Amino acid sequence: MKPWLLLSLLLLQQTLQSAVGQPAKSKRPKEPGENRIKPSNKKVKTRTPKLKERNSTEPSPKVSSIMTRVMEKGHFQKPTATLNLSTGQSIELRCKGNKIGWSYPPYLDTFKDTRLSIKQHERYSQLILENATAADTGEYSCWLLLCNGYNCKKDTSKGGSTYIFFADKEEFFVPAPSYFEVVYLSPDKPAVIPCRVTNPSAKVTLHQEFPAEEIKVDGTNIIYDAKKGFIYQHPTSDQKGVVYCKAESRGTPQISIKYQLLYVESKLILRDLVHSRILSMSFS
Ligand SMILES: *[C@@H]1O[C@H](CO)[C@@H](O)[C@H](O)[C@H]1NC(C)=O
Ligand SMILES: *[C@@H]1O[C@H](CO)[C@@H](O)[C@H](O)[C@H]1NC(C)=O
Ligand SMILES: *[C@@H]1O[C@H](CO)[C@@H](O)[C@H](O)[C@H]1NC(C)=O
Repeated sequence: MKPWLLLSLLLLQQTLQSAVGQPAKSKRPKEPGENRIKPSNKKVKTRTPKLKERNSTEPSPKVSSIMTRVMEKGHFQKPTATLNLSTGQSIELRCKGNKIGWSYPPYLDTFKDTRLSIKQHERYSQLILENATAADTGEYSCWLLLCNGYNCKKDTSKGGSTYIFFADKEEFFVPAPSYFEVVYLSPDKPAVIPCRVTNPSAKVTLHQEFPAEEIKVDGTNIIYDAKKGFIYQHPTSDQKGVVYCKAESRGTPQISIKYQLLYVESKLILRDLVHSRILSMSFS
C-alpha cells in the first residue's frame, strides 16, 4: 500500500473517531479552526483506570500525629492505624491546628453527603461522620496547612491518619459504583483488584470465571490487603480474564462485583510505538 493511502486512511479513521466520540458537540455552531485535525498524539491516549490509586498518607515515623478520636463522655483517644467499627455508628475525629486539610473516601464528596461535616475551630478541626455505611470504609487523614494569605501548603511533619472498617451484616464488600469494573494489567506496575472488605476478619478468596476455579493466592505474586484488595505484584498477560472475589463471614459467603482484567503494555511503550509508526509512514 502507498504511504499516502495509509496516511489518509489513518486520518479518515481519526476523523470518524472524533465524529463518533463527540455526538453532543456536533449540534452547536463550530468555532473557527475547530474542524482541523488535531495532532495525532492527542488521539492515542490510552484510557486510564477509573479508580485512581490514592497516595497513601500514612504518617511515616517523622510525622507527629495531630489526630484524636472523640469517644463518648468527652474522652479522647489516639486513633490506631485501623479502627474496627460497624455501620450505623458515628465517629468524630479532631486534628490540632488552625488550618487543617482532610481526606476521606471520595464517595462522600460525590454525593455531597450530609452525614459528613467538617468544621474548623480556632485550635482544631472537627470531622463528624454520622450513621456510617459500608461505603464509608476507607482512609481518613488530616494534615496541617501552612498558609501565607491564600497560598497554603501541606506541613508534611504534622498529620494523622486512620483506616476505618465499617463492618456491615449485609455488605461484606465496600459497595462499588457499578456491577462491572475494568482493571488494567501492565507489566511494569502492580495491579489492584479493589474488592475491599468492610470487616477485616472476613475470609476472602479470588476466583476466575472461566474456567471456574479459585485463583491461588500465594502471598508473594498475589497478595490480599483488606484495605486495598487483591494485588498482582507482577501482572502477566495470562492473568487476563474475568474474576470476582468471595468473602465469608460467620459461614455466609458473598461475592463481589466482577472485574475484567485487561492486559496492556506500558502506556509509554504504546505511545512510542504509534508515534514511530506514523513517522515511518510519512517518510517512506
Ligand atoms: C506521595 O506522598 C509523598 C508524601 O506526601 C510524596 O513524597 C510522594 O511524592 C507522593 N507520591 C505520589 C506518586 O504522588
Ligand atoms: C442518623 O440516623 C438517625 C436515626 O435513624 C436519624 O434520626 C438522623 O437524622 C440521621 N442523621 C443524618 C445526618 O442522616
Ligand atoms: C481489627 O480487626 C482485625 C481483624 O480481626 C484485627 O487484626 C485488628 O487488630 C483489629 N484492630 C483493632 C484496632 O481492633
